[in-house]
Amino acid sequence: MNPLLRSVVTGVGGHLPATVVTNDDLAAIVDTSDAWIVERSGIRSRRKATDDQATSDLAVAAARIALSRAGRDPGDVDLIIVATTTPDLTFPATAAIVQRKLGAPIGIAFDIQAVCSGFVYAMSVADNFVVRGLARCALVIGAETMTRLMDWTDRGTCVLFGDGAGAVVLEPRSGEGTIADRGILGFALRADGTKQDLLYVDGGPSTTGTVGKLRMQGNQVFRHAVVNISEAVIAAADTAGVTMSQVDWFIPHQANQRILEGVAKRLGIDGNKVISTVAEHANTSAASIPLALATGIEDGRIKPGQLLLLEAMGGGLTWGAVVLRL
Ligand code: ACO
Repeated sequence: MNPLLRSVVTGVGGHLPATVVTNDDLAAIVDTSDAWIVERSGIRSRRKATDDQATSDLAVAAARIALSRAGRDPGDVDLIIVATTTPDLTFPATAAIVQRKLGAPIGIAFDIQAVCSGFVYAMSVADNFVVRGLARCALVIGAETMTRLMDWTDRGTCVLFGDGAGAVVLEPRSGEGTIADRGILGFALRADGTKQDLLYVDGGPSTTGTVGKLRMQGNQVFRHAVVNISEAVIAAADTAGVTMSQVDWFIPHQANQRILEGVAKRLGIDGNKVISTVAEHANTSAASIPLALATGIEDGRIKPGQLLLLEAMGGGLTWGAVVLRL
């Protein structure tokens, strides 16, 4: 491995399906209210894919934007990793379907299943391919149709999730081996399978033979989220050799505004440095970080050369963080 090779983000894109579902829309089907949802989660609306839109369709739309911003086309792509918990099919991997739909050449394509932490896991895995010279143009995509996993009679979960996709292009660039380098500088990944019951889907091909519905003990997940994420963020920052005060933008998994604020406060990160998009698209699981990243870049807040801290927690439980310089 060349120690001076870095995986650099050269393009970012996000895609949300057109159909908007407001809190009032949900109040018409379950016993909830716009006021409760906004106060407890910060969510104001979410998007819903149409019946004929699969996760791969959202992924392809986001990937095309990311590729175009990187000045690349599908013919350049040699690695596709899709982080998703809502694949089109049990197999093949959604990444292989994305490869076909993009018209990308034969290369490496596979999915990562780490639920809401999927994008952080996928970036870390892709980094290993890129810095070893095994990929020259990698697409890392978080894409989800979480509304397909909802129990629309459970007000404790169905108000919290939405559909969407985000993608980044990672390419190798030479670095000096310092924190001034562009690219992924460090990461930390964690899982604790003993906490499965706090957040899971009650179906699967080898158990029920069904897709199942999402089940969650929300307040328990909340408690674990704030404590665990903070530890992983500090570990990732230590690996990268950076301190919290050097971070320009904190881009958390967009699950709940109160979790975002709780983690930022625990880490001593100024609220003005937090990118929050949860109000507009709710929890899109593995898609939420690249969607927030795309928004921050598009609206001009996040600029090339800035130091970014990404973090997430999801079912498993899994959690982790990535430090990178854009
Ligand atoms: N509308 C109105 N009332 C509701 C709703 C709703 N949509 N959902 C739950 N309630 C009620 C409950 O029934 C309960 O009523 P009770 O006191 O009569 O029993 C009351 O509100 C309080 O319920 P709690 O669950 O204790 O409420 P809490 O303040 O913890 O908020 C929430 C619930 C929003 C789910 C919060 O716990 C949370 O966000 N947790 C984290 C969930 C999350 O982000 N998960 C995803 C992270 S991992 C991943 O992204 C997959």
